[in-house]
Amino acid sequence: MIKLVGVSKIHQAGEIQTTALDRIDLEIEAGEYVAITGPSGCGKSTMLGILGLLDVPSHGEYWFEGQNVAGWSESKLNQLRRGRIGFIFQSFNLIEELTVFENVELALEYNGTPARERRERVTAMLAKLGVGHRASHRPSQLSGGQQQRVAIARALVAGPAVLLADEPTGNLDTAHGDEVMRLLREINAEGTTVVMVTHSPDHAAQASRTLNLLDGRIMVDVLQAA
Ligand SMILES: Nc1ncnc2c1ncn2[C@@H]1O[C@H](COP(=O)(O)OP(=O)(O)OP(=O)(O)O)[C@@H](O)[C@H]1O
Ligand SMILES: [Mg+2]
Repeated sequence: MIKLVGVSKIHQAGEIQTTALDRIDLEIEAGEYVAITGPSGCGKSTMLGILGLLDVPSHGEYWFEGQNVAGWSESKLNQLRRGRIGFIFQSFNLIEELTVFENVELALEYNGTPARERRERVTAMLAKLGVGHRASHRPSQLSGGQQQRVAIARALVAGPAVLLADEPTGNLDTAHGDEVMRLLREINAEGTTVVMVTHSPDHAAQASRTLNLLDGRIMVDVLQAA
C-alpha cells in the first residue's frame, strides 16, 4: 500500500543543507504494524511526514495505494490525506479553542460528511476510546492520557487506511503510555495499517516489524513474531 523508491529529503535552512533521508527504498503492506526507531535527528519524523503527505520528497517516488503522488499539488495531497491517513503526535496537537467533540468533528468537516452523521460518528468514536464523558470539555481540562485518546479519536474518525504516530507516548506516564500502546494494537488488529515512531524498545517490540534508521538510511528492517 506504501512504496518509497529512492526517496531523499534535503532540508534547507539558510545556507545549511541537511540530508534527512538518504535514498530510502521501503514497502509497507496493508495491515502491517511498523515501528521506526533510531537516534535523535536520524530522520524518523521526516520519514513520517513524507509517508503522511505532510511533506514531499526532494528526490524519488512515493506510491500510495498504487498512485505515484510525487509532484502532486498540495490541495490534491491534502484531499488524499484527509480521506486515507490519520496522524497522532507526541504533543497531541488538539485545538484549545474547541471542545473535545469539536476537535474530533473537525476531521469530518473537510470531507463534507452531513452534520447528523458527524454527530453519530464522533459520539461513537469518543465512546470507543473512553472519553465520551469529556465531550464538552476543553483539551487542557483533560489528563495527558485522555488528550491522546481524543487525538486518536480525531485521527480515526474518518476511517483512514493508515495511522501514523510520532512518539505517541512521549508525553505520557508509563500507565497512560501502555494504554495508548494497547489501543494501537487494537486499531491494527481491526485492519488499520500503523506506522509508529518510538524511542522505547518495549513499545517497538509490540509492532510486527521494526525499522532502525541511522543518518537517513534504513540500517535494520526486521519482522517480529506476534
Ligand atoms: N524543517 C527543517 N529544516 C531544516 N532541517 C530540518 C528540518 N526538519 C528536520 N531537519 C533536520 O533533518 C534531520 C532529521 O530530522 P528529524 O526531525 O526527521 O529527526 P528525528 O529522527 O525525528 O529526531 P527526534 O528523535 O529528535 O525527533 C535533523 O538533522 C534535523 O535537524
Ligand atoms: Mg522526531
